[in-house]
Amino acid sequence: MMADHSELPAEEQLYPVPAHLLDASQCPKPWVSSLEQYKEMHRQSIENPDEFFGKEATELLSWTTPFHKVHHGGLQHGDIAWFLGGQLNASYNCVDRHAMSNPDKIAIIYEADEPNQSENITYGELLRRVCQLAGALRARGIRKGDTVAIYMPMIPEAVVALLACTRIGALHSVVFAGFSAEALRDRVQDASSRVVLTADQGKRGGKTIETKRIVDDALKSCPLVETVLVAQRTGAQVPMKEGRDFWLADECSKQPGYIDPEPMHSEDPMFLLYTSGSTGQPKGVMHTTAGYLLGAAMTVKYVFDYHPGDIFACMADVGWITGHTYIVYGPLSLGATSVLFESIPTYPTPARYWEMIAKHKITQFYTAPTAIRALRRLGDDWTKGHDLSSLRILGTVGEPINPEAWHWYNDIGQGKCAVVDTYWQTETGSHIITPLPGAIATKPGSATVPFFGIDLAILDPVTGKELEGNNVTGVLVVKRDWPSIARTIYGNHQRFLETYLKPYHGYYFTGDGATRDKDGYIWIRGRVDDVINVSGHRLSTAEIESALIMHHAVAETAVIGANDDVTGQCIHAFVCVKPGISIIPGHASTLDLSKELVLQVRKVIGPFAAPKKIYLVEDLPKTRSGKLMRRILRKIVAGESDSLGDISTLADPSVVEVLIQRVAKS
Ligand code: PRX
Repeated sequence: MMADHSELPAEEQLYPVPAHLLDASQCPKPWVSSLEQYKEMHRQSIENPDEFFGKEATELLSWTTPFHKVHHGGLQHGDIAWFLGGQLNASYNCVDRHAMSNPDKIAIIYEADEPNQSENITYGELLRRVCQLAGALRARGIRKGDTVAIYMPMIPEAVVALLACTRIGALHSVVFAGFSAEALRDRVQDASSRVVLTADQGKRGGKTIETKRIVDDALKSCPLVETVLVAQRTGAQVPMKEGRDFWLADECSKQPGYIDPEPMHSEDPMFLLYTSGSTGQPKGVMHTTAGYLLGAAMTVKYVFDYHPGDIFACMADVGWITGHTYIVYGPLSLGATSVLFESIPTYPTPARYWEMIAKHKITQFYTAPTAIRALRRLGDDWTKGHDLSSLRILGTVGEPINPEAWHWYNDIGQGKCAVVDTYWQTETGSHIITPLPGAIATKPGSATVPFFGIDLAILDPVTGKELEGNNVTGVLVVKRDWPSIARTIYGNHQRFLETYLKPYHGYYFTGDGATRDKDGYIWIRGRVDDVINVSGHRLSTAEIESALIMHHAVAETAVIGANDDVTGQCIHAFVCVKPGISIIPGHASTLDLSKELVLQVRKVIGPFAAPKKIYLVEDLPKTRSGKLMRRILRKIVAGESDSLGDISTLADPSVVEVLIQRVAKS
């Protein structure tokens, strides 16, 4: 066991690379096995990116036409392009080439909601299924450049669906199956999707989700949708609309087991994924083919130190970027065996993760801090008695990990595993700040150092000047583009420029605050915009506010993120009711209204966006010019009412005292 520094402040705790990982008799030699090697490779990637990434792209990806130029354009004008002149196909890279060399290798371990219903899918089988669905999509008129909406539970068909789209050059637009019908409708409409892929029902933690019914509701106002292909997860009777809805398996069975992959240019769009920003309107982040795929492959290789024979398990949902990159494209591009987990960490018991690791001999395990915190709360007994000796790397993603949770997770690895806290975003495509397991000593709570090709800076938020040296805090930006950065927002390049490239001209603006500590390690401090991170799910305050305002009783709202021990942040909503509606704290009518408002958010966005607290109020704190002071609300909720600062600039300072009382009583 390694030394325990947990009594020291997190910044002072330095956990060296576990000796076990560097022991050639126990583990494969890490691809990057010393700090010097990391530094040298990082230097090359910044000083000579064409050579560095040209070599990686040639080694890791298969091309039908080689690229003739590595890089063009950049952050200055938002005209980013990589691997010009090259042609390749993502599904070929993730399926065919492994199916040819190793058809019986397991590509997907489907760990179903009920553990005994699991299933393995080989690369050979995956190729057949991908080709058949690709053929079925073509038969429905889908061609290169079209968008296909995917709203599916975590079943093998979801992975097949992504790869079938990329096989024929269609852009998949996966909508997380926890989104409501209205949220799905908006995303289907925005992307002009004509086909939706879904399932009859979903299964999660023993519960049944009426997936197809949600799709039916959404499609009531999506006139462009011509076809819905429905996978059978439970076999339940669900309404099928004549001429529009077809069973996915029937349509696939009519198709041949092989069709040629569509040759794609490096910069041809590969997929859209909607994410929340600081306005109410979600944006369709667009990734292109070669750069995205290279980022996915490189990070699985270097950050997860993937070696042939490893069993890779990412616990995210395929509906988020983490699922795209680390269930599907990253592991499969390298020919890995990837685990698709349909359930939740506590079903049937809180030992589920550890049982699964032992059962499949998982080598890399990747989950979110919120899951770690939730399991830690349930006690250590559940972690005992499982053979976790296959593990080498434990990853986290989605939100800052608090040191207590980090230590608990690190103990799961019994000092033999590296913990990699990976920082990245939907827009970055793959990890941008992360330890490399064989090279970087870790500090609990720090994402540590930039990945290859990432030239970081921390800026003064007001002046936009770079804060040089160590011991600085400001906004986190990247100074130059890298292969897997998003290229645009679907249908709105101007918004792409304004959101990411214009706030600090010439830099990519992450939207996060960060500190570079005395040793040069990066600590992510959370969003500096109006984005809230609940259990690693990104939500915009504006989106929740616009859901609430649709309710007839609501005049105005202010939504803020409050700290939460398990979910990281949670949503608190201040709701100002319309004149004439009386608020009597504790009274049945007032409680009913609060419940209605929570339901309203669930209906417009989805259950995961439900506010934890609703405060019904008569007034909100505003300046004389009418600007809402969210900062004051955040302080009141955090119990810091004694340090509100100057409130004399408010139009009506007495509002504050009323709010303090209201929050205290709730
Ligand atoms: O605030 C950061 C947080 O999640 C945001 C990105 O969210 P999304 O695009 O949904 O992607 C999540 C999975 C990649 C970031 O702006 N975030 C992500 N990873 C970390 C993190 N915050 C701290 N530490 C991390 N490791």
